[in-house]
Amino acid sequence: MGYLPTRLRQHGVLRKMVRDVQLTMDDMIYPIFIVEGENVYKEIESMKGQYHISVDQLERLVPQWQSKGIKSLLIFGVPDEKDAEGACAYDDNGIVQKALRAIKAISSEIFLITDICLCQYKSDGHCCFFDPQGKIKREETLRTLDKIAISHGKAGADMVAPSDMMDGRINSLRTALDKNGFEHLPIMAYSAKYASSFYGPFRDAAHSAPAMGDRQAYQMDFHRASEAISEFELDVKEGADILMVKPAMPYLDIVSKASERFNRPIAAYQVSGEYAMLERGVRENLIAEKSIYESLIGIKRAGANLILSYFAPVVQELIEKYSE
Ligand code: PBG
Repeated sequence: MGYLPTRLRQHGVLRKMVRDVQLTMDDMIYPIFIVEGENVYKEIESMKGQYHISVDQLERLVPQWQSKGIKSLLIFGVPDEKDAEGACAYDDNGIVQKALRAIKAISSEIFLITDICLCQYKSDGHCCFFDPQGKIKREETLRTLDKIAISHGKAGADMVAPSDMMDGRINSLRTALDKNGFEHLPIMAYSAKYASSFYGPFRDAAHSAPAMGDRQAYQMDFHRASEAISEFELDVKEGADILMVKPAMPYLDIVSKASERFNRPIAAYQVSGEYAMLERGVRENLIAEKSIYESLIGIKRAGANLILSYFAPVVQELIEKYSE
């Protein structure tokens, strides 16, 4: 026989030698939900194993996360009070800003990323402002997003991640950051963010479900792949440093296209619905725990350099258990 594909599968050492990808904790970003108040460490109903956390708890939690190999956090703020302007999003004493300062005081090593959007802060739960006819007020939205990013920069963010999907936001953010002394602050753009049902558990967690309508007027239609390419092109042209695809598992074709075509690192966000599905499947013994590891390897194989996942705190353990 000539080539036998199973030849390379006979010895464990060789199997590992010929792998295309591997997963390490350097790839992982852990998204967390910070709330107002004190002594809050409350499990999120829709995302078992994930918590609403008040700032005072971080002193205990950050070292715990670090001991599990976590090097980077994506911070989501869940404020008590929302308003029509979403003003608490750029308040220097807002929830994300407080969390940034607190974490930086606990550890100078951990890398902090913030989500730049309005939906958690605005009473109507939308990512942008609308005029009375219901059309997106782009300029006004962009100016507010700029203010949020600058205020996160001042509070200590190491990278900002705009998730609003407004046209022109990367250019607008880059310009605003540069003007305010943040030329070196990288932007990880949620470039291909689809209007997905997989965000359901997150909207529960972040209290950010839209009060009326949905996000189809600004997030992408999941019947389209080619549109993602234009979104990536625009974001690269406007100065994005990292391109993100979101969700991850049902969008691996998009991850793969992005990594083949663009000379920027690609991030994939395994979102709340993907987490909830896998977490419950494993908890109820419908699927083996190894499937979580397999899902992350699949995302890497598709071409992602970075993965945002709520599983981050268990990934080190998964690698130890299942990478053999
Ligand atoms: C804010 C934002 C959302 C997510 C990340 N940033 C919600 C949304 O767009 O509705 C979803 C993350 C997840 O589902 O885990 N715009």
